[in-house]
Amino acid sequence: MTIFNATSETIGQAAKCLRDGGLVAFPTETVYGLGADARNPEAIKRIFAAKNRPENHPLIVHIASVEQLEEWAQDIPDMAFKLAQHFCPAPLAFVLKKRPDVSEIVTGGQNTVALRIPNHPIALELLRAFGNGIAAPSANRFCRISPTQAQHVADELGNDVDMILDGGACQIGVESTIIDLSSDKPMLLRFGQITRSDLETVLQTEVFIPDSLSKTTVRTAGMMAIHYAPLTPAMCCNSNMLVTFLNDKNQKVGVLTCGSNMPSTKNRIVISLPSNSMIYAQNLYAKLRELDALKLDLILVEQPPKGEAWQAINDRLGKATHNAKSHTHD
Ligand code: TXA
Ligand code: MG
Repeated sequence: MTIFNATSETIGQAAKCLRDGGLVAFPTETVYGLGADARNPEAIKRIFAAKNRPENHPLIVHIASVEQLEEWAQDIPDMAFKLAQHFCPAPLAFVLKKRPDVSEIVTGGQNTVALRIPNHPIALELLRAFGNGIAAPSANRFCRISPTQAQHVADELGNDVDMILDGGACQIGVESTIIDLSSDKPMLLRFGQITRSDLETVLQTEVFIPDSLSKTTVRTAGMMAIHYAPLTPAMCCNSNMLVTFLNDKNQKVGVLTCGSNMPSTKNRIVISLPSNSMIYAQNLYAKLRELDALKLDLILVEQPPKGEAWQAINDRLGKATHNAKSHTHD
Protein backbone atom coordinates (compact mmCIF):
# COMPACT_ATOMS: atom_id res chain seq x y z
CA MET A 1 0.00 0.00 0.00
CA THR A 2 1.19 3.49 -0.79
CA ILE A 3 -0.34 6.90 -0.34
CA PHE A 4 -0.51 8.71 -3.67
CA ASN A 5 -1.01 12.40 -4.08
CA ALA A 6 -4.19 12.58 -6.16
CA THR A 7 -3.32 13.77 -9.69
CA SER A 8 -4.91 12.92 -13.05
CA GLU A 9 -2.22 10.28 -13.47
CA THR A 10 -2.68 8.57 -10.09
CA ILE A 11 -6.46 8.80 -10.42
CA GLY A 12 -6.10 6.99 -13.77
CA GLN A 13 -3.97 4.34 -12.07
CA ALA A 14 -6.57 4.02 -9.32
CA ALA A 15 -9.34 3.50 -11.92
CA LYS A 16 -7.23 0.71 -13.47
CA CYS A 17 -6.68 -0.81 -10.05
CA LEU A 18 -10.48 -0.87 -9.52
CA ARG A 19 -10.97 -2.50 -12.94
CA ASP A 20 -8.46 -5.17 -11.92
CA GLY A 21 -10.50 -5.95 -8.79
CA GLY A 22 -8.33 -3.91 -6.41
CA LEU A 23 -9.22 -1.77 -3.40
CA VAL A 24 -8.70 1.99 -3.61
CA ALA A 25 -9.20 4.35 -0.67
CA PHE A 26 -10.24 7.82 -1.80
CA PRO A 27 -11.36 11.10 -0.24
CA THR A 28 -14.96 12.27 -0.23
CA GLU A 29 -16.36 15.41 1.35
CA THR A 30 -17.52 13.38 4.38
CA VAL A 31 -14.88 10.74 5.18
CA TYR A 32 -12.45 8.54 3.21
CA GLY A 33 -14.07 5.60 1.43
CA LEU A 34 -12.68 2.13 0.75
CA GLY A 35 -13.66 1.58 -2.86
CA ALA A 36 -14.12 -1.45 -5.09
CA ASP A 37 -15.87 -2.13 -8.40
CA ALA A 38 -19.53 -2.37 -7.37
CA ARG A 39 -20.16 -4.87 -10.19
CA ASN A 40 -17.38 -7.23 -9.13
CA PRO A 41 -18.45 -9.58 -6.30
CA GLU A 42 -14.90 -10.78 -5.66
CA ALA A 43 -13.66 -7.22 -5.23
CA ILE A 44 -16.58 -6.44 -2.91
CA LYS A 45 -15.73 -9.46 -0.78
CA ARG A 46 -12.27 -7.97 -0.30
CA ILE A 47 -13.87 -4.84 1.22
CA PHE A 48 -15.71 -6.92 3.82
CA ALA A 49 -12.54 -8.85 4.60
CA ALA A 50 -10.37 -5.71 4.93
CA LYS A 51 -12.88 -4.04 7.23
CA ASN A 52 -13.82 -7.19 9.21
CA ARG A 53 -17.35 -6.17 8.38
CA PRO A 54 -20.17 -8.75 8.59
CA GLU A 55 -21.40 -9.51 5.08
CA ASN A 56 -24.99 -8.59 5.86
CA HIS A 57 -24.09 -4.90 6.30
CA PRO A 58 -24.80 -3.24 2.96
CA LEU A 59 -22.43 -0.83 1.21
CA ILE A 60 -23.09 2.52 -0.42
CA VAL A 61 -22.56 2.57 -4.19
CA HIS A 62 -21.00 5.85 -5.31
CA ILE A 63 -21.95 7.20 -8.72
CA ALA A 64 -20.96 10.26 -10.74
CA SER A 65 -24.34 11.68 -11.73
CA VAL A 66 -28.07 11.70 -11.06
CA GLU A 67 -28.65 9.93 -14.40
CA GLN A 68 -26.75 6.90 -13.08
CA LEU A 69 -29.33 6.34 -10.30
CA GLU A 70 -31.33 4.36 -12.86
CA GLU A 71 -28.44 1.99 -13.56
CA TRP A 72 -28.75 0.70 -9.97
CA ALA A 73 -32.27 1.41 -8.74
CA GLN A 74 -35.79 0.87 -10.03
CA ASP A 75 -39.19 2.41 -9.22
CA ILE A 76 -37.35 5.55 -8.16
CA PRO A 77 -39.87 7.92 -6.56
CA ASP A 78 -40.07 11.58 -7.56
CA MET A 79 -38.89 12.47 -4.07
CA ALA A 80 -35.47 11.00 -4.89
CA PHE A 81 -35.11 13.10 -8.03
CA LYS A 82 -36.31 16.18 -6.20
CA LEU A 83 -33.67 15.75 -3.50
CA ALA A 84 -30.97 14.76 -5.98
CA GLN A 85 -31.63 17.77 -8.16
CA HIS A 86 -31.60 20.07 -5.18
CA PHE A 87 -28.57 18.73 -3.30
CA CYS A 88 -26.39 16.46 -5.43
CA PRO A 89 -23.48 16.00 -5.59
CA ALA A 90 -23.91 15.92 -1.83
CA PRO A 91 -23.31 14.22 1.52
CA LEU A 92 -26.61 12.41 1.04
CA ALA A 93 -27.19 8.71 0.33
CA PHE A 94 -30.46 7.37 -1.08
CA VAL A 95 -31.78 3.92 -0.23
CA LEU A 96 -33.87 2.78 -3.19
CA LYS A 97 -35.29 -0.47 -4.59
CA LYS A 98 -32.42 -2.22 -6.31
CA ARG A 99 -32.44 -3.41 -9.88
CA PRO A 100 -32.38 -7.20 -10.18
CA ASP A 101 -28.89 -7.15 -11.70
CA VAL A 102 -27.35 -5.44 -8.64
CA SER A 103 -25.46 -8.05 -6.65
CA GLU A 104 -26.80 -8.91 -3.20
CA ILE A 105 -23.20 -8.95 -2.04
CA VAL A 106 -23.24 -5.14 -2.29
CA THR A 107 -26.65 -4.81 -0.68
CA GLY A 108 -26.03 -7.26 2.15
CA GLY A 109 -28.84 -9.49 0.86
CA GLN A 110 -31.43 -6.69 0.85
CA ASN A 111 -33.67 -5.71 -2.05
CA THR A 112 -32.62 -2.08 -1.70
CA VAL A 113 -29.40 -0.32 -2.66
CA ALA A 114 -27.80 2.81 -1.18
CA LEU A 115 -26.55 5.34 -3.76
CA ARG A 116 -24.54 8.51 -3.30
CA ILE A 117 -23.05 11.16 -5.59
CA PRO A 118 -20.16 12.54 -3.52
CA ASN A 119 -19.36 16.23 -3.63
CA HIS A 120 -15.59 15.94 -3.93
CA PRO A 121 -13.54 16.65 -7.07
CA ILE A 122 -11.19 13.69 -6.58
CA ALA A 123 -14.02 11.24 -5.88
CA LEU A 124 -15.91 12.52 -8.93
CA GLU A 125 -12.83 12.36 -11.16
CA LEU A 126 -12.17 8.80 -10.01
CA LEU A 127 -15.80 7.84 -10.67
CA ARG A 128 -15.63 9.33 -14.17
CA ALA A 129 -12.28 7.71 -14.95
CA PHE A 130 -13.59 4.36 -13.74
CA GLY A 131 -16.91 4.83 -15.52
CA ASN A 132 -19.03 2.70 -13.22
CA GLY A 133 -20.30 2.55 -9.64
CA ILE A 134 -17.80 2.29 -6.80
CA ALA A 135 -18.96 0.52 -3.64
CA ALA A 136 -17.31 2.30 -0.73
CA PRO A 137 -17.89 2.09 2.97
CA SER A 138 -15.84 4.32 5.24
CA ALA A 139 -12.21 3.13 5.10
CA ASN A 140 -11.96 2.01 8.72
CA ARG A 141 -12.22 -1.34 10.45
CA PHE A 142 -15.74 -2.31 11.49
CA CYS A 143 -17.06 -0.29 14.46
CA ARG A 144 -14.10 2.08 14.51
CA ILE A 145 -13.83 5.79 13.82
CA SER A 146 -14.09 6.79 10.15
CA PRO A 147 -10.89 8.20 8.58
CA THR A 148 -10.84 11.85 7.59
CA GLN A 149 -7.22 11.91 6.37
CA ALA A 150 -5.25 9.58 4.07
CA GLN A 151 -2.83 8.74 6.88
CA HIS A 152 -5.72 7.45 9.05
CA VAL A 153 -6.51 4.92 6.32
CA ALA A 154 -2.89 3.83 6.09
CA ASP A 155 -2.64 3.49 9.88
CA GLU A 156 -5.76 1.43 10.08
CA LEU A 157 -5.86 -0.71 6.93
CA GLY A 158 -2.18 -0.88 5.96
CA ASN A 159 -1.54 -3.42 3.23
CA ASP A 160 -5.18 -4.51 3.05
CA VAL A 161 -5.74 -1.61 0.63
CA ASP A 162 -3.94 -1.44 -2.74
CA MET A 163 -3.86 2.34 -3.22
CA ILE A 164 -4.73 5.37 -1.13
CA LEU A 165 -5.47 8.60 -2.97
CA ASP A 166 -4.59 11.57 -0.78
CA GLY A 167 -6.89 14.56 -1.08
CA GLY A 168 -6.10 16.17 2.26
CA ALA A 169 -8.50 16.38 5.19
CA CYS A 170 -12.21 15.87 4.53
CA GLN A 171 -14.32 19.04 4.61
CA ILE A 172 -17.36 17.74 6.48
CA GLY A 173 -15.86 15.07 8.71
CA VAL A 174 -18.96 13.01 9.54
CA GLU A 175 -20.64 10.45 7.29
CA SER A 176 -23.45 11.28 4.87
CA THR A 177 -27.12 11.63 5.74
CA ILE A 178 -28.99 8.48 4.66
CA ILE A 179 -32.61 8.69 3.51
CA ASP A 180 -34.62 5.58 2.71
CA LEU A 181 -37.06 6.20 -0.14
CA SER A 182 -37.79 2.56 -0.88
CA SER A 183 -41.24 2.67 0.72
CA ASP A 184 -44.06 5.23 0.87
CA LYS A 185 -42.69 6.92 3.98
CA PRO A 186 -39.35 8.72 3.65
CA MET A 187 -37.17 7.53 6.53
CA LEU A 188 -34.03 9.18 7.83
CA LEU A 189 -31.61 6.33 8.62
CA ARG A 190 -28.49 8.32 9.54
CA PHE A 191 -27.99 11.92 10.60
CA GLY A 192 -25.48 13.96 8.63
CA GLN A 193 -24.73 17.51 7.62
CA ILE A 194 -27.94 17.65 5.57
CA THR A 195 -30.56 17.74 8.32
CA ARG A 196 -34.08 16.42 8.58
CA SER A 197 -35.41 20.00 8.18
CA ASP A 198 -33.29 20.48 5.05
CA LEU A 199 -34.89 17.36 3.56
CA GLU A 200 -38.39 18.28 4.68
CA THR A 201 -38.06 21.78 3.24
CA VAL A 202 -37.26 20.38 -0.19
CA LEU A 203 -39.77 17.52 -0.05
CA GLN A 204 -42.53 19.56 1.59
CA THR A 205 -43.47 16.46 3.57
CA GLU A 206 -42.55 14.82 6.85
CA VAL A 207 -39.40 12.69 7.00
CA PHE A 208 -39.67 9.94 9.60
CA ILE A 209 -37.03 8.62 11.96
CA PRO A 210 -37.22 4.95 12.93
CA ASP A 211 -37.72 4.92 16.72
CA SER A 212 -35.53 1.95 17.37
CA LEU A 213 -33.45 -0.56 15.52
CA SER A 214 -35.68 -3.38 16.75
CA LYS A 215 -38.64 -1.81 14.96
CA THR A 216 -36.96 -1.68 11.58
CA THR A 217 -35.80 -4.54 9.41
CA VAL A 218 -33.22 -2.32 7.73
CA ARG A 219 -29.69 -3.18 8.68
CA THR A 220 -27.80 0.04 9.03
CA ALA A 221 -24.42 -0.27 10.63
CA GLY A 222 -24.55 3.38 11.59
CA MET A 223 -27.56 2.62 13.77
CA MET A 224 -25.83 0.02 15.90
CA ALA A 225 -25.28 1.13 19.47
CA ILE A 226 -21.50 0.69 19.49
CA HIS A 227 -20.06 2.24 16.39
CA TYR A 228 -17.49 4.86 15.49
CA ALA A 229 -15.75 4.03 18.75
CA PRO A 230 -12.22 4.76 19.94
CA LEU A 231 -10.47 1.94 21.82
CA THR A 232 -10.02 4.07 24.91
CA PRO A 233 -13.16 4.29 27.06
CA ALA A 234 -14.84 7.59 26.21
CA MET A 235 -17.55 9.54 28.01
CA CYS A 236 -19.54 12.63 27.24
CA CYS A 237 -19.96 14.90 30.23
CA ASN A 238 -21.17 18.35 31.17
CA SER A 239 -18.74 20.78 32.82
CA ASN A 240 -19.64 19.74 36.41
CA MET A 241 -18.94 16.08 35.71
CA LEU A 242 -15.77 17.07 33.89
CA VAL A 243 -14.42 18.70 37.04
CA THR A 244 -15.23 15.61 39.13
CA PHE A 245 -13.34 13.31 36.77
CA LEU A 246 -10.41 15.67 36.45
CA ASN A 247 -10.02 15.65 40.22
CA ASP A 248 -9.19 11.95 40.11
CA LYS A 249 -5.40 12.22 40.15
CA ASN A 250 -4.82 8.54 39.40
CA GLN A 251 -6.26 8.57 35.93
CA LYS A 252 -4.56 9.68 32.74
CA VAL A 253 -7.31 11.54 31.01
CA GLY A 254 -7.78 13.05 27.56
CA VAL A 255 -10.25 15.89 27.25
CA LEU A 256 -11.95 17.07 24.08
CA THR A 257 -13.54 20.42 24.79
CA CYS A 258 -16.30 22.16 22.92
CA GLY A 259 -15.83 25.86 23.40
CA SER A 260 -14.17 25.69 26.85
CA ASN A 261 -10.57 26.58 27.52
CA MET A 262 -8.59 24.33 29.82
CA PRO A 263 -4.83 23.87 30.11
CA SER A 264 -3.17 20.47 29.69
CA THR A 265 -1.31 19.10 32.72
CA LYS A 266 0.84 16.01 33.31
CA ASN A 267 -2.13 13.65 33.60
CA ARG A 268 -4.52 15.61 31.45
CA ILE A 269 -4.16 16.09 27.71
CA VAL A 270 -6.59 18.71 26.47
CA ILE A 271 -7.59 19.18 22.84
CA SER A 272 -9.88 22.16 22.29
CA LEU A 273 -12.51 22.39 19.62
CA PRO A 274 -14.66 25.46 19.09
CA SER A 275 -18.40 25.53 19.63
CA ASN A 276 -19.02 25.77 15.89
CA SER A 277 -20.70 22.67 14.51
CA MET A 278 -18.99 22.77 11.09
CA ILE A 279 -15.47 23.11 12.47
CA TYR A 280 -16.22 20.66 15.28
CA ALA A 281 -17.46 17.97 12.84
CA GLN A 282 -14.50 18.52 10.54
CA ASN A 283 -12.06 17.81 13.38
CA LEU A 284 -13.92 15.38 15.63
CA TYR A 285 -12.65 12.04 14.31
CA ALA A 286 -9.06 13.20 13.85
CA LYS A 287 -8.95 14.52 17.43
CA LEU A 288 -10.52 11.36 18.84
CA ARG A 289 -7.86 9.37 16.98
CA GLU A 290 -5.12 11.58 18.39
CA LEU A 291 -6.39 11.06 21.93
CA ASP A 292 -6.93 7.34 21.34
CA ALA A 293 -3.31 6.91 20.23
CA LEU A 294 -2.08 8.22 23.60
CA LYS A 295 -3.41 5.09 25.37
CA LEU A 296 -5.04 7.07 28.15
CA ASP A 297 -7.35 5.64 30.82
CA LEU A 298 -10.28 7.72 29.72
CA ILE A 299 -11.39 10.25 27.11
CA LEU A 300 -13.80 12.88 28.37
CA VAL A 301 -15.80 14.72 25.76
CA GLU A 302 -17.37 17.99 26.78
CA GLN A 303 -21.03 17.71 25.76
CA PRO A 304 -21.66 19.88 22.68
CA PRO A 305 -24.86 21.93 22.41
CA LYS A 306 -28.12 20.27 21.35
CA GLY A 307 -29.96 21.44 18.25
CA GLU A 308 -30.21 20.27 14.68
CA ALA A 309 -26.83 21.57 13.52
CA TRP A 310 -25.24 19.33 16.18
CA GLN A 311 -27.45 16.28 15.62
CA ALA A 312 -25.01 14.23 13.51
CA ILE A 313 -22.20 15.07 15.96
CA ASN A 314 -24.23 14.14 19.03
CA ASP A 315 -25.36 10.95 17.31
CA ARG A 316 -21.74 9.88 16.60
CA LEU A 317 -20.60 10.89 20.08
CA GLY A 318 -23.42 8.84 21.57
CA LYS A 319 -22.05 5.84 19.72
CA ALA A 320 -18.39 6.57 20.41
CA THR A 321 -19.11 6.77 24.12
CA HIS A 322 -21.52 3.86 24.36
CA ASN A 323 -20.43 1.00 26.61
CA ALA A 324 -17.28 2.88 27.62
CA LYS A 325 -16.39 0.51 30.40
CA SER A 326 -16.12 -2.60 28.27
CA HIS A 327 -13.57 -1.18 25.85
CA THR A 328 -9.91 -1.99 26.40
CA HIS A 329 -6.74 -1.58 24.39
CA ASP A 330 -6.50 -5.22 23.45
O1 TXA B 1 -20.31 9.51 4.00
C1 TXA B 1 -20.46 8.34 3.64
O2 TXA B 1 -21.56 7.85 3.35
C2 TXA B 1 -19.21 7.45 3.57
C3 TXA B 1 -18.39 7.89 2.36
C4 TXA B 1 -17.20 7.01 2.12
O3 TXA B 1 -19.21 7.97 1.24
N1 TXA B 1 -19.56 6.08 3.49
C5 TXA B 1 -20.05 5.40 4.55
O4 TXA B 1 -20.26 4.06 4.30
O5 TXA B 1 -20.28 5.92 5.63
P1 TXA B 1 -20.50 2.99 5.45
O6 TXA B 1 -20.58 1.67 4.77
O7 TXA B 1 -19.47 3.13 6.48
O8 TXA B 1 -21.92 3.34 5.94
C6 TXA B 1 -22.98 3.15 5.05
C7 TXA B 1 -24.24 2.94 5.79
C8 TXA B 1 -24.18 1.69 6.62
O9 TXA B 1 -24.65 2.01 7.91
C9 TXA B 1 -25.10 0.76 5.88
O10 TXA B 1 -25.71 -0.17 6.71
C10 TXA B 1 -26.09 1.73 5.25
O11 TXA B 1 -25.29 2.78 4.85
N2 TXA B 1 -26.71 1.14 4.08
C11 TXA B 1 -26.14 0.80 2.92
N3 TXA B 1 -27.03 0.21 2.10
C12 TXA B 1 -28.20 0.20 2.75
C13 TXA B 1 -29.49 -0.27 2.44
N4 TXA B 1 -29.75 -0.86 1.30
N5 TXA B 1 -30.45 -0.11 3.37
C14 TXA B 1 -30.18 0.49 4.55
N6 TXA B 1 -28.98 0.94 4.91
C15 TXA B 1 -28.00 0.81 4.03
MG1 MG C 1 -18.68 3.32 8.29
